[in-house]
Amino acid sequence: MGKLRSAQWYAGQDRNAYIHRAWMRRGVPDDAFEGRPQIAIANTASDLTPCNAHLGEVAASVRNGVYEAGGIPLEMPVVSLGETNVRPTAMLWRNMAAMATEEMLRANPIDGVVLLGGCDKTIPSLLMAAASVDLPAVVVPGGPMLTGTFRGNPLGCGTDVWRLSEEVRAGTLSQEQFVRSESSMIRSRGHCNTMGTASTMALVAEALGMVVPGVAGTPAPDSRLLQAAHGTGRLAVDMVTAERRPSTFLTKASFHNAIVALAAVGGSTNAVVHLLAIAGRLGIDLTLDDFDRIGSRVPVLVDLQPAGRFLMEDFHRAGGLLAVLREVRELLDPEATTVTGQRLVDSLDDASIWDAEVIRTRAQPLVAQGGIAVLRGSLAPDGAVIKPAAASPHLLRHRGPAVVFDSVEDFHARIDDPGLDVDADSVLVLRGCGPKGYPGMPEVSNMPLPKKLLEAGVRDMVRICDGRMSGTAYGTVVLHVAPEAAAGGPLAFVRTGDIITLDVEARSIDVEVPADELLARGPNSAAVAGYADPRRGWERLYIDHVQQADTGADLDFLVGSSGSEVARESH
Ligand code: FES
Repeated sequence: MGKLRSAQWYAGQDRNAYIHRAWMRRGVPDDAFEGRPQIAIANTASDLTPCNAHLGEVAASVRNGVYEAGGIPLEMPVVSLGETNVRPTAMLWRNMAAMATEEMLRANPIDGVVLLGGCDKTIPSLLMAAASVDLPAVVVPGGPMLTGTFRGNPLGCGTDVWRLSEEVRAGTLSQEQFVRSESSMIRSRGHCNTMGTASTMALVAEALGMVVPGVAGTPAPDSRLLQAAHGTGRLAVDMVTAERRPSTFLTKASFHNAIVALAAVGGSTNAVVHLLAIAGRLGIDLTLDDFDRIGSRVPVLVDLQPAGRFLMEDFHRAGGLLAVLREVRELLDPEATTVTGQRLVDSLDDASIWDAEVIRTRAQPLVAQGGIAVLRGSLAPDGAVIKPAAASPHLLRHRGPAVVFDSVEDFHARIDDPGLDVDADSVLVLRGCGPKGYPGMPEVSNMPLPKKLLEAGVRDMVRICDGRMSGTAYGTVVLHVAPEAAAGGPLAFVRTGDIITLDVEARSIDVEVPADELLARGPNSAAVAGYADPRRGWERLYIDHVQQADTGADLDFLVGSSGSEVARESH
């Protein structure tokens, strides 16, 4: 092992080394500063991030493992984002959380880091930070919650909120029963139990190579999670010894495998934005089209909500990610290695499917070709995405008149108006929800359908938006439209009544208005209002520097890596 990075703080007999050591001598052994790796435990535990509230216990297990392997564990609370609470949207703060974690890892005497995340934005922000500071890093995902039931039926977090609220709007469920279901939704500690963004990002992080193979998807209350956390603490010390940094093993091959995993598990569209942002931090040339090229030939094997029936507890019982990856082994890039230093494919030999209803075999997939389709056309020159497995087959090719909403507020004010000129063939268009426009690109693209159509039995319509969609949502939703309306994209020029054509097989999304006519209209002023608003603080910085969804919605000055060097002393 070369000289530890932390020795820049602790080694020597001078005044500065004295200061760095003296204030850290709070019960640690005398040799704590003599060649023992200093391992940060970047912890997103917070009472305001309920999905991560249990991570203190996980951190304690990591701590034991670090000590056992000869390292010094140092718990480091980092910015935490609770998806259900943070306004105006947790995504506004993903880059801030990543930046703060990156800077604090760089600023402190840290040799390696164990990253503890769970709720949607926490693993992505930690991975972005780790990629940019490039210290040996490994993730322990906090794990999904156990399955709650309501009136004898399992409840899928998020997915069943949308379903039950639509039932209330359609008049098939009483308001009282709806409220009663609330206390059944969250049965235990852990993150959402559907194949939403949190589950997806934990599994994708493992496929990427950033989690010890076989750990992601372990339910939060399962004692095996603490065992894995303990082992990961030990591994972090080994990674420092081996100088195994993200830049030494995260390659285009790693992202290839992450995309295969994303498609095979039927994962959230949010993973597209997050993976693009992480790749951007590593200087890896990953594009939106890679998701379509690699992912669209991958079968969906996992029958989990929102695309299917089961929940994460079932997924883990059925064999988990490694069982899935074993089925699609020949689609994986065999060269990609992981935090262990071994190839990902070498961890698949012992994997088995224990319940072929939950994890399908290759011969009997849930959907023969899954993944994320990337659409382009006059409405989205830089691309938009749709998850065909979550859409209605009869709407994958559709032509209909636009009903345009300039903001979420405009949408809510008018969608249930009995006088709204809308029918099942209409295309709902919501703009002003991109990174700059909202700001923060919220999960609003899966717009609730008009009440009068719900009552008439309509359950899906084509919807188009420059925002994102919750990974727990479903429907024929075209999202991440780039450029967004607030950045002057064609979405800002569309009017109610314009004919929109969607053809997923042809990968196209167009508005049937000649380009010169569209341009002559000028952008709708309400659609670009968010961008023009004067703001201060993080929002100001974010609006001025955020990039579009097709490249990961990172800030322009955060793309790339700065490494871990700090040139100057603090005193
Ligand atoms: Fe935290 Fe769903 S709200 S994972």
